[in-house]
Amino acid sequence: MIPADTTAKILESAHIEEVVGEFVNLKRRGSNLIGLCPFHQEKSPSFTVSPSKGIFKCFGCGKAGDSAKFIMEHEHSSYPEALRYLAKKYHIEIEEREQTPEEMVALNERERLFNLNSFALTYFSETLFNSDEGKAVGLGYFKERDFREAIIKKFQLGYCPDKRDAFSKHALAAGYTEEVLLKTGLSTQHDNHLYDRFQGRVLFPIHNLTGKVIGFGGRILNSEKSKAKYLNSPESEIYIKGKSLYGIYFAKTAINKADNCFLVEGYTDVLTLHQAGIENVVASSGTSLTTEQIRLIRRFTNNITILYDGDNAGIKASLRGIDMVLEEGMNVRIVLFPEGDDPDSFVRRHRSIEVEEYIAKNSKDFISFKTNLLLEETANDPIKKAGLAKEIVQTIALIPDSIYRSVYVKECSRLLELPEQTLLNELNKILRNRFRKQVSPDFPEPAVESAPQQELPKPEGPETSPTYYQERELVKILLHFGRNEVNHKVPDEFGNEVNYSENVAQFIIDDLSHDQIVFENETHKKIFDLFAIAINEGVVPGEHQFISNPEPDVALLSADLLSSPYELHDWKRKKIFVKTELETLMQNITSSLYKYKERIIDARLEAVSIQLKEATSFEDQMILMHQKKHLDSIRFKINEILGIVISK
Ligand code: CTP
Ligand code: MN
Repeated sequence: MIPADTTAKILESAHIEEVVGEFVNLKRRGSNLIGLCPFHQEKSPSFTVSPSKGIFKCFGCGKAGDSAKFIMEHEHSSYPEALRYLAKKYHIEIEEREQTPEEMVALNERERLFNLNSFALTYFSETLFNSDEGKAVGLGYFKERDFREAIIKKFQLGYCPDKRDAFSKHALAAGYTEEVLLKTGLSTQHDNHLYDRFQGRVLFPIHNLTGKVIGFGGRILNSEKSKAKYLNSPESEIYIKGKSLYGIYFAKTAINKADNCFLVEGYTDVLTLHQAGIENVVASSGTSLTTEQIRLIRRFTNNITILYDGDNAGIKASLRGIDMVLEEGMNVRIVLFPEGDDPDSFVRRHRSIEVEEYIAKNSKDFISFKTNLLLEETANDPIKKAGLAKEIVQTIALIPDSIYRSVYVKECSRLLELPEQTLLNELNKILRNRFRKQVSPDFPEPAVESAPQQELPKPEGPETSPTYYQERELVKILLHFGRNEVNHKVPDEFGNEVNYSENVAQFIIDDLSHDQIVFENETHKKIFDLFAIAINEGVVPGEHQFISNPEPDVALLSADLLSSPYELHDWKRKKIFVKTELETLMQNITSSLYKYKERIIDARLEAVSIQLKEATSFEDQMILMHQKKHLDSIRFKINEILGIVISK
């Protein structure tokens, strides 16, 4: 139990920007700090910290609170756990009363698991340093591997005696229950008896971000083939393998500072690199790399350098890692160590400066990496070269950001000496196909377009804008029919019939410009501008200028919109006389234009209504009422026009 005045003191001492800053990369913005929210996935920062108010708030997911609340959310801890964490950080002593047995039982399960792990940590560490067996066997082993005492202490390495149940007995005697011993996996059970899981092994404790022990990795000391080299704690409520990274607690500050994270495979790689002064390093030990682990790293940096063995397994793992990192929108570089070496063995045989040189010299971006892997074979073989290009473009297609994609396409084109356009076409093909698969994984591609929501590849702009689909519809018409000449009577916005004879692009552009309407979505606007500029110069741009546009978003969207036929909607199909196609087209264009305008006016009306509710002065109310009336009348006219168009 933490006394109330201590709680107050802890909360007063905790500086929110320091508490949060340990987990989130914060940048100053005015009197606040901002960063990427650790509680939900986002690309642009909406997570705000106010040092003066002592609170954090995410405008994306809505999480908010003080320092203690942040730790609770972030570490999934209870309130007392969070307070204890803060007390430790700010060197405030907590004079806790001894817990009564009832209170012990009431501790939540996570706390009980943490408590036992911490108890075990002390036991294993004392055994390593103070028992004869520990010193001879455990410490002897670490020394043989050149681990110095400082690193052994820092990483809190330990040793479990080779005595069947020494630890389990010790823990039971100290009051820990069989249940917790089994849940943490420190003990296993046979015939109703508890045995030590890690007997006779050296131990690598696995820490979470706040430095608490969530599990252990235990290495065998002899080379008995029948037993696994490493045994790891089983998953539990506090240890989820795919979500933790070995070494993250000791690396996070260095990762932040270096703005880069080295990713290795094993426990010993982390230790040896640390010992060589390279501290921004973590291992995915015990599992193959997961997306969650990559996201954990992303809290501290956007850059990952993969350091793997140069053997086949290492290369394979690197290739997989590359794709996963890129998919998360992060940057990746790869360093392979000479075959037969892992970072640990390489670093042990070289001086720190040589290691740094080796990494600097051999670190490659993923395109050079893949190219180098296959180059010898492909240099003089155009078919193999094409295969390699496809392979690289597949990976480029995983990058979420279109700007980065186009940078890498350029790089690939340079390295493989292939035309950029060829690569772009291939890229767009992949993006389109992938998108189709996402939309309807189980169904064949529809012959005719269905609802517009279903056809968009990730739109770049404010796709949530109320006019997104209407904009898109108009872009589609521009692309399909922009060149078509129309000569037709259509109602203008006052309901009068006016004669038009021009191409469709001109008609739409004039109409929107007249009303000073600009597309909100960036890609839509780019396409609109391309038409507007060309028409201003007296030409109508051809399809290829869009499909093969150097701007990948333009190319992708136009290809997407042009790849399926535009179905002219005939509202009165059942009428006896058949309208000409031209009439139907004009009808479609007009209705699309006015549905778009209807949306715009509706959004404005909504904004005015909200302002009206909040307006306090009579004068403001009058002005707003006037605006509303004006908008209402436009809305009415639009309705009328739409009514006429549709019933024609
Ligand atoms: N690993 C594991 N279980 C195994 C083998 C390996 O969990 N049976 C994990 C460990 O985290 C290990 C990592 O995979 O650190 C890499 O395995 P490996 O390259 O075989 O071991 P090293 O890290 O090189 O260990 P050492 O140098 O002690 O042999
Ligand atoms: Mn090794």
